[in-house]
Amino acid sequence: MRIFLHNNSRAKSILSSAWGVLALILLGIAMFSLKAKSQVKLDAEGHQWWQHAVFYEIYPRSFADTNNNGIGDLNGITEKLDYLKDLGIDAIWITPCYPSPQVDFGYDVSNYENIDPMYGTLADFDRLASEAKKRNIRIIMDFVMNHTSDQHAWFKESRSSRDNPKRDWYIWRDGKGAGRPPNNWLSTFGGSAWKFDPTTGQWYYHFFYPEQPDLNWRNPEVEKAMFNVTRWWYERGVAGFRLDAVDTLFEDPDLHNNPVLPGKNQYGDPNMQNLYNTKLPELHSVLQRLRQVADKYDAVLIGETWTKDIDELKQYYGEHSNELQMPMDFLFTRVDKLSAPEFRKQIAGVNSAGWPVYVLSNHDIVRAYVRYGDGVHNDAIAKLMAGLYLTLRGTPIMYYGEEIGMTNNDPKRREDVKDPIGRLGWPKEKGRDGERTPMQWNTSANAGFSQTKPWLPVPASYKTHNVATELKDPDSILNFYRRVLALRQQDRALRDGDYVALNENDANVLSYLRRYKDEAVLVVLNMSSSPQKVSFDLQAQGLTASKAATMLSTGKAKGASVSLQSISLDPFAVYIGKVGP
Ligand code: NOJ
Repeated sequence: MRIFLHNNSRAKSILSSAWGVLALILLGIAMFSLKAKSQVKLDAEGHQWWQHAVFYEIYPRSFADTNNNGIGDLNGITEKLDYLKDLGIDAIWITPCYPSPQVDFGYDVSNYENIDPMYGTLADFDRLASEAKKRNIRIIMDFVMNHTSDQHAWFKESRSSRDNPKRDWYIWRDGKGAGRPPNNWLSTFGGSAWKFDPTTGQWYYHFFYPEQPDLNWRNPEVEKAMFNVTRWWYERGVAGFRLDAVDTLFEDPDLHNNPVLPGKNQYGDPNMQNLYNTKLPELHSVLQRLRQVADKYDAVLIGETWTKDIDELKQYYGEHSNELQMPMDFLFTRVDKLSAPEFRKQIAGVNSAGWPVYVLSNHDIVRAYVRYGDGVHNDAIAKLMAGLYLTLRGTPIMYYGEEIGMTNNDPKRREDVKDPIGRLGWPKEKGRDGERTPMQWNTSANAGFSQTKPWLPVPASYKTHNVATELKDPDSILNFYRRVLALRQQDRALRDGDYVALNENDANVLSYLRRYKDEAVLVVLNMSSSPQKVSFDLQAQGLTASKAATMLSTGKAKGASVSLQSISLDPFAVYIGKVGP
């Protein structure tokens, strides 16, 4: 080699041009990997866009119906973008609007790369995306990862024969004998989690409805195909995904039986600990790889993460913050009473886990208005809850209609139920129709949602609790939301400040500071039904001011400023004020 180098000038020139080529290749690779690498942008505080954003969940069936078939549509969402912008929304999460037989109202996807005709077309989606962009509103789609519809082409192929190339895209097993499923696992929607398919004489696994067969995430082809779905939508302009049912992506390949617990559930099945079919550690590596794809688009991943405690929630952020940016903290929704100590504990917990993601309710959870309401002060309590989760350090995800105090409208008779689990579990389980009713826009027929009978009935409260009426009332829940959200946008401490718990022994009033350098905002929330008086000594926080300048309050504490020695609060009152250094 040395001889070759020294003695052959032609070889030398070949070599030098080879070096040149190599250098070019390396440069190319470097540039490519730079391009393929993370596109994540940080602001001066080291925050990313989703940390300052207010998210808003839209259940498209129920938001706004423009073609008057009783079901909402994408054009309806586009029509309401100005309303959302004025409210202070930065990102909308649209629950599944892909082609679907609608057994689980869209959570049974039969094609991930299209729009169900019931909601519109891809062109409608593109128009929505471009109109949203003009208003700086980002779009988050729902990614139903755990399962497809049984009408998806992949499943149709998979079930056609045992040696079909897509057979292993789902979970097929032999039963234990005639009519006996492979093991004792139960569907969370009732009955066995296995369904026998006579075509091939095997059983397939479904954690949800039988029409929602689970994908086999141990198969790399499934991962590839599903990751490509996210790329396809990113290229179309979406800013992230809410990941459905991530807890259930993997199952024990040896199919160990789950431990059976005493008692029966709402479907009459034995209670069971889902030890071998939920929260398997393998799911975290899939989510971490999905995050790598998301980072290439500066996109956010929001997790439907039902965790039993903060340690489990922590795992979803990833040890190196390399998994989900926004795992939803459902532990917060489980604080099912107005309790200052309980919320204090919960807030401290999630702050220790990662960037908090607060949710009060969604299309699977009874609306906050009734969960926290006492039947007398519901409007005041709705403001209290807004005053809480919209002023905390973290990202809130609102649920459509929460901002006007929409109530649950649960079906009264089994024959009226639309959600299949409500029909199966009646009367113990009434299903989720109650929290999915049409958005209440005004006092006209069907609350202005549609010109025809909507798919679910509008509750009687629409006469008073609707957008048009509340916009006119300065004391409405809607105007309270608008004001808090405006403060969140304008105030540095509410935007970037730390969370500092105050008066931690107070059993009735939850108080905290949002602290950014020498700026501070004081938030005081009376979680009790009796008037309260509170005082604050903020010396320990390096704040010597004796007064707070009122930014927003409900009830008595209305003056331009209040003394920190004594703030009087009406039942369920909110006080938010600026405290100087
Ligand atoms: C969670 C969704 O939020 C719920 O509505 C759905 O039924 C299940 N996942 C199954 O996809």
